[in-house]
Amino acid sequence: MKTWVPGTRPGMTALVTALAILAGGVTTSAQPASSRSAAELMDVVMWGREPIGGPFALTDHTGAPRTDADFRGKLLLVYFGFTYCPDICPTDLQTMGLALDRLGEAADRVQPLFVTLDPERDTSEHLARYLSSFHPRLLGLTGTPAAVHAAAEAYRVYYAKVSTKDGDYTVDHSGFIYLMGADGRYIGFFPPGSPPETIAKAVSQVLAKE
Ligand code: NI
Repeated sequence: MKTWVPGTRPGMTALVTALAILAGGVTTSAQPASSRSAAELMDVVMWGREPIGGPFALTDHTGAPRTDADFRGKLLLVYFGFTYCPDICPTDLQTMGLALDRLGEAADRVQPLFVTLDPERDTSEHLARYLSSFHPRLLGLTGTPAAVHAAAEAYRVYYAKVSTKDGDYTVDHSGFIYLMGADGRYIGFFPPGSPPETIAKAVSQVLAKE
């Protein structure tokens, strides 16, 4: 590849500036995001075309390192989202909390996880503050963009950073609640909008067999 050295002629300045802006745009879109489209990943999950889940190494909302292996022996409810999400994430997190409440004592055998797709803004401290308005059993997970990306890819989660008009950004993402077995195997998913009763019922059926 040839290295292009920008000239210093007056006319070049605008061009260099334009290229810099363009390069900036490219860098933004090259931030970790799903390697595949929302439609493709939705298809993969809905039809169970590929294995879902697997090892992850993240940091919880107290700042402690966590891997998937830490949760063996418990069912997992795994949700990927971000704290600045205006409505879907809060609704789904509330649903997970209500499902746990319905399970009563059996909920002790279930660990709900909220994995952020926006690790730049969702630090452990920020997750801790955010999750305090949800169920006390909810554990928030964050990490390096690369670690979060790896976890999202393993769960076939779609996510992408989208710039907003005010110069800020939001994160488009799929919103499945995954149910994982006590041995870490994938059991199934609850689509967005699943009522807490449905989740509690399915979880208690699995618990009876675990
Ligand atoms: Ni969301």
